[in-house]
Order: sequence, then C-alpha cells, then structure tokens
Amino acid sequence: MHFSHFYLLASSAAILPALAAPTTQAALKNAAAAVPGQSELFASYQGRKTPLAEDWNQIIHPSASGDPGPDDQLFQNLLSAEWVIYTFYQEGVDTFTQEDFTKAGLPKNTYQRLKQIRDNEAGHIRIFQDQISGTSLKPGPCTYDFNYNKSNPVEYLGLQVYIEVTSQAFLTGLALEAVSDKSKAALMAIGQTETRHNVWGLMDTFGVSPMAGPSDTTYPYAEQILELTNAFIKKCPSENPVYPSPRQHLPQIAMWANGTTGAPGDKIQPIFYEPKNQPQFEEGKDYWAVFFHGIATINVPYTPGQEFITIPNQFENSTGIIIMNIADTQDSPTAESVVAGPLVLIEQPRLLTLKAPSVVSL
Ligand SMILES: *[C@@H]1O[C@H](CO)[C@@H](O)[C@H](O)[C@H]1NC(C)=O
Ligand SMILES: *[C@@H]1O[C@H](CO)[C@@H](O)[C@H](O)[C@H]1NC(C)=O
Ligand SMILES: *[C@@H]1O[C@H](CO)[C@@H](O)[C@H](O)[C@H]1NC(C)=O
Repeated sequence: MHFSHFYLLASSAAILPALAAPTTQAALKNAAAAVPGQSELFASYQGRKTPLAEDWNQIIHPSASGDPGPDDQLFQNLLSAEWVIYTFYQEGVDTFTQEDFTKAGLPKNTYQRLKQIRDNEAGHIRIFQDQISGTSLKPGPCTYDFNYNKSNPVEYLGLQVYIEVTSQAFLTGLALEAVSDKSKAALMAIGQTETRHNVWGLMDTFGVSPMAGPSDTTYPYAEQILELTNAFIKKCPSENPVYPSPRQHLPQIAMWANGTTGAPGDKIQPIFYEPKNQPQFEEGKDYWAVFFHGIATINVPYTPGQEFITIPNQFENSTGIIIMNIADTQDSPTAESVVAGPLVLIEQPRLLTLKAPSVVSL
C-alpha cells in the first residue's frame, strides 16, 4: 500500500511538472552556489534553461600560481569532454518538446528524463571544475555540431547511446591514469551515472535488454577515445588547453555500412578517411587489428591494405560495445603501438550498429 501511494505521487508529479515551477525558479536564483549532490539543479530540475550559473558556464582562469595538482590534466581532459556531453543534452532540451517524443512513439516521460540527464551532466561540469586545482585553468565550452536531423528525435536519442557508451569507455580508461585514489573513486562513481543514462535509453527508447554481459568494455588509452569527441567540436576558446592532452593525432578509422551487420564473426571494411592523416605502415612489419570487448583483448592479424577485417566471433552477440584499433604489436601494449583508430562499434541495440557516427552509408 505504501508503495502504490508513493507511485501515485511520483506519477502525478510527472504529469504536472507545472507544480514544480516555483521551487525551480528559487533553485535557479541560487544556481551559483549550488553543490552537486545537494541541489535539485543537478538532479531533478525541470526547467528548459541551463542549471549552470553564468559564473560556471565559461572558462575559469587560475586563481593562484604554483604547480598544477597531480590530476589536473586528467580533469581538464574530462571537463572538456563533459562540455561536449552536457551541451549535447542541453541542446536536446532546447530543440525538442515532449510532444516531439510522443509523436515519435516514445514514453511520456522522455523529455523529463532528458532534462534530468542534462542536470546530471551539468553537475559533472561543476564536479570536474572543482577537481581542478586553483593553479590550473578550467577549460570552457566550445561550439559544437552533433550533426543529427533536428526534426528526428529518435536519431538524436540514437546519438545519446553513442555518447554514453563512449563516455563509459573513456572514464574507465582514465581510472588507469588517475594519481589519487579519490580521483579513481570519483571516476568510477561518474561512470555509474553514465551507465544509468545508457540503461534508460536501452530500455525506454529502444526497448531492448539493459544487460550488457558481465563487464562493460575497457580501453587502455582514454585520450584516444576522447579524440573521437573532437568530431563534434567546432571552435574552442583559444586559452583552452589542447584537447585531449596529450593528443596523438592518430589516423581515424570509419567503416562502411554496406555489406556488414557489424556483429561478432562478420567482416567490416575499414576506411582511413582523412586524406592527410593516413596510417604509416612499415614494410615487413607485422600489424594487428586489436579488438576490445568486456575486459578481454583479441588480436587479429592485419596486412596493410587488406580490405576486410573479421570481428572475432568469440565475443558475445549484441552486448555493449566493441572497440578496435590497428597496432604494430599484439594487444597494443602502449599508446604509441597504436597506428590508427580506435573505432567504436555499438553492439547494443543492434539497430544502432550501422548508424553510429563512425559508420559511413552511401
Ligand atoms: C529529418 O527527419 C524527419 C522526421 O523523421 C524527416 O521527415 C526528414 O526527411 C529528415 N530530413 C533529412 C534531411 O533527412
Ligand atoms: C560499400 O560501398 C563502398 C562505396 O561504394 C565500396 O567501396 C565498398 O566496396 C562497398 N563494400 C561492400 C562490402 O560492398
Ligand atoms: C545476434 O543478435 C541479433 C539480434 O540482436 C540477431 O539478429 C542475430 O541473429 C544474432 N547473431 C548470432 C550469430 O547469434
């Protein structure tokens, strides 16, 4: 009985968001002082306007001189990535209405959830700003182009899955670089939140299982995953640090959508699509397509110029993601051993595999 009473309250709040308006206005008044974990602004605020106060919605110059903190560079990378993610959600909140989602056949709380996720991501902005010490610059927002059809809310929500699984991959990778244990725990806690966002999309938008096998996918070089988000970045404030730092400028890999399902056991046809940034292969040297799924790595021999690469059929079907790079050493034991990539394959939902930004359709 308690449960159903609670449920009724929760669902009537969802139907009548107007009831929340006065507190929402009050919350915005205190936005500059809002603390993540202690303010509705980063959890349940339902306004269209950003929950970030102007003070925080910009580049923040160092307030002290001295050596940087041990994890400053890590959190600068993460803050730059978070501006991409937060902006993606704020733009979705600005672009769509619940009516757009309803017309597309999506649940009647879709817009509400989108705003909650936007709130969480704004909270991440504040958390990462606070993790960077006063002696280092806190990067500001850039301009972005997410390149989706603004009249197609389902396409937007497909990109949401790509953004969430990619963040999961770089958050776990950054845990390998964090100096302080506290930073490692913070990265893990943030990763859990991104997973909730992904699970929501899998269940409520795409109607598939939220389970993704026993482990999400780890990839050892977080900066290489962060590099993929540069595809969405147009122009940054010139004072922002190079993103990601260090930046390897590796040749990027896309793949053709025709002739594959992108599932384990199937062949994919890679494209090195930047004419001025082609992989440099040395004659007589061995190369590998190194595949990552869960916490395992599988090496597939690769001959430069070969047209197709087979995704290892040992991997579970339709769970999480598969990441591939091309390396000059089995397992790609160092960032420098990677000669191209990585390529992120969305395996769940299968419906999105061939619609990811790295997949080229004719
Ligand atoms: C954008 O999406 C809408 C709704 O699905 C569709 O009618 C329109 O043709 C799409 N536009 C382009 C350029 O694909
Ligand atoms: C996919 O299309 C591209 C462009 O026409 C072509 O180069 C490629 O060979 C095709 N791949 C398959 C597997 O059909
Ligand atoms: C993989 O899963 C998809 C559905 O997600 C299914 O259509 C396909 O047949 C499966 N492939 C194998 C080899 O089990």
